[in-house]
Amino acid sequence: MVDTQSTQRVTVTGAAGNIGYALLFRIASGDVFGADVPVDLVLLEIEPALPAARGVAMELADSAFPLVRSITVTADLEEAFTGTTAAFLVGSRPRTKGMERADLLNANAEIFSAQGKALNQFAARDVKVLVVGNPANTNALIASRNAPDLDPQQFTALMRLDHNRALSQLAQHQGAQSVEYSQVAVWGNHSASQFPDLTFAQRGGAPVEVETSWYTEEFIPRVAKRGAEIIEVRGASSAASAASAAVDHMHDWVHGTQDWRTAAVVSDGSYGVEEGLVCGFPTVARDGRWHIVQGLELSEFQQERIAASVAELQAERDAVAHLLP
Ligand code: NAD
Ligand code: LMR
Repeated sequence: MVDTQSTQRVTVTGAAGNIGYALLFRIASGDVFGADVPVDLVLLEIEPALPAARGVAMELADSAFPLVRSITVTADLEEAFTGTTAAFLVGSRPRTKGMERADLLNANAEIFSAQGKALNQFAARDVKVLVVGNPANTNALIASRNAPDLDPQQFTALMRLDHNRALSQLAQHQGAQSVEYSQVAVWGNHSASQFPDLTFAQRGGAPVEVETSWYTEEFIPRVAKRGAEIIEVRGASSAASAASAAVDHMHDWVHGTQDWRTAAVVSDGSYGVEEGLVCGFPTVARDGRWHIVQGLELSEFQQERIAASVAELQAERDAVAHLLP
């Protein structure tokens, strides 16, 4: 459990971007750490975006949030990460129409190598890191491998958006509310190869029954390609829903969960996922750590879907081998 009295030093990278704009105000209002936990906010941006980040800081100040103790805007990694207890690594390029998230690997990978090194050197020893910038799983791997003095478990990637999308699609299909469901999870990569899995899903404690054709031909591709659908319809990559999922992820990491959540965590080899890859799993949070749900019997279909996404994670990892000490 979080120490409710101690101030959190929270670094948000890409603070002038779309997600940063939605995320910072939720953190400031207490949605992540709690209504009684003060926060020092640190906004990291690249030099050209510093004026816009200062504008965001002015708006944060104008909101007079009772929990916000200080706001720092910087382009300097040492200043940004010194004493950080929670880091949201958002800053990076988003994809545009027609791109896959993996196409961002070259553009964004070096950012996470530099930030991993800075976290290693300057952050609080128990820092919690959530990578949002795409391709998020492999960027989290890069950051973690560049932070050898921190536990790899401290590095996670955002797959809670996929989890929330799965809940929402299922609830809409069954004319129900998302909150009625439990034991839903998304395995693999935050990409079109991911496997949103309803095998163990329950509604009000009873197994969920869905038509196979809807499940395999509509639900799975809909959730897996929802990011592209948002870009197509909205004309820009998801932002408020991504920020909301990032809030959910960090909130649950800090406060713990009973039911399953999807978090992309460093694999310990569970379910045949190669050790060290950052992969989406069914997880629960307890004592400030994500734990992969153990003991699930997987069908051939599940194993094949997971293996396909893991193969993509391996290929991404191999493509950035030069950034993995
Ligand atoms: P954006 O372009 O609106 O903002 C990105 C910001 O990052 C910009 O202000 C830019 O100046 C800043 N930035 C770039 N390099 C930086 C660096 N080295 N240090 C600090 N800041 C830096 O993009 P956005 O819509 O906010 O999306 C940000 C990232 O999040 C993208 O990679 C996007 O694909 C990803 N994303 C991930 C998920 C997910 O579920 N994992 C969901 C939505 C978006
Ligand atoms: C999303 O899932 O909405 C984000 O990862 C943005 C994208 O490129 O799809």
